[in-house]
Amino acid sequence: MPAFSRRTLMLAASALGALTLTAGIAAAQVPPLEQKTTYKVGFAQTESNNPWRIAQTESMKAEAAKLGYQLVYTDAAGSAAKQVADVNSMIAQGVDVIFLAPREEKPLIPAVMAAKKNGIPVILLDRSVDPKLAKAGKDYLTFIGSDFIKEGERAAEWLVKNANGKTKIIELEGTTGSSPANDRKKGFDEAIKKAEGFSIVASQSGDFARDKGRQVAEALLQSHPDANVIYAHNDEMAIGAISAVEAAGKVPGKDILILSIDGGKEAVGLVAEGKIAAVVECNPRFGPKAFETMARYAKGEKIEPWVINEDKFYDASNAKAELANAY
Ligand code: AHR
Repeated sequence: MPAFSRRTLMLAASALGALTLTAGIAAAQVPPLEQKTTYKVGFAQTESNNPWRIAQTESMKAEAAKLGYQLVYTDAAGSAAKQVADVNSMIAQGVDVIFLAPREEKPLIPAVMAAKKNGIPVILLDRSVDPKLAKAGKDYLTFIGSDFIKEGERAAEWLVKNANGKTKIIELEGTTGSSPANDRKKGFDEAIKKAEGFSIVASQSGDFARDKGRQVAEALLQSHPDANVIYAHNDEMAIGAISAVEAAGKVPGKDILILSIDGGKEAVGLVAEGKIAAVVECNPRFGPKAFETMARYAKGEKIEPWVINEDKFYDASNAKAELANAY
């Protein structure tokens, strides 16, 4: 029997898929992955502008190196268009699997679909894509990451218990159109709506970036001088907000409570110092879970649509003790 390459088989499968589609039957499933001793794997990172992203990249690179796999790494530098091009370039280079951390929910759909069409399974890392446009187990294998809605809820629950009269909230949102910004807002805002006496006086994007967070916090503190809480969707914006609070002549942790998500070393240190009140961790250590999921798939195991990362929580009660373990 002649030996066919995986690509040839995929071409045949995709032709068959076209036929079945014409016949009105459901579209093809996630492409298969052969069991091999080594792989060429793509990791399409969204940007590298903060410790969270750097920790995630290091974890992926370390695990690939440990397994002896070739890693094709790209950094989209905060551009969804570049990230789509990066994925297309990985497809052209014939990678076996693509790990994708999609910058935004909708613009990365064409990249997911292009990989599928070319017979390459995609595993989404840390951020997801629009569930109405692409589905786990059909268009991509699975989403590995935290529960962002729960992260927002945990921040709100901590605030409601520990507010001590601080109830007027400025929210600094992450990148518009990204799944963590959408879900951290949803989880927090819905929990706050149920809490008596609390209100979100302003909510605006700081694009998950320190200086943008500082600028937005500065402007919102001017237009809402009665605000006494800042909830930032990530550490970078929370750290920017500390500068804005101090520039407004107020004391972070005393006049204004700052809440954050991510749990990098700098932010956990600021919790220990009392400048940030509490941080919900968003675990960036993806490497072991990402490659283990890939191996399970190659073995023929059924993969769950969402492989959940567990997150810690830091406040004054544990920040000093946990500082050494933070990334
Ligand atoms: O998708 C996770 C988020 O992306 C992190 O909270 C943030 O810091 C990063 O850029």
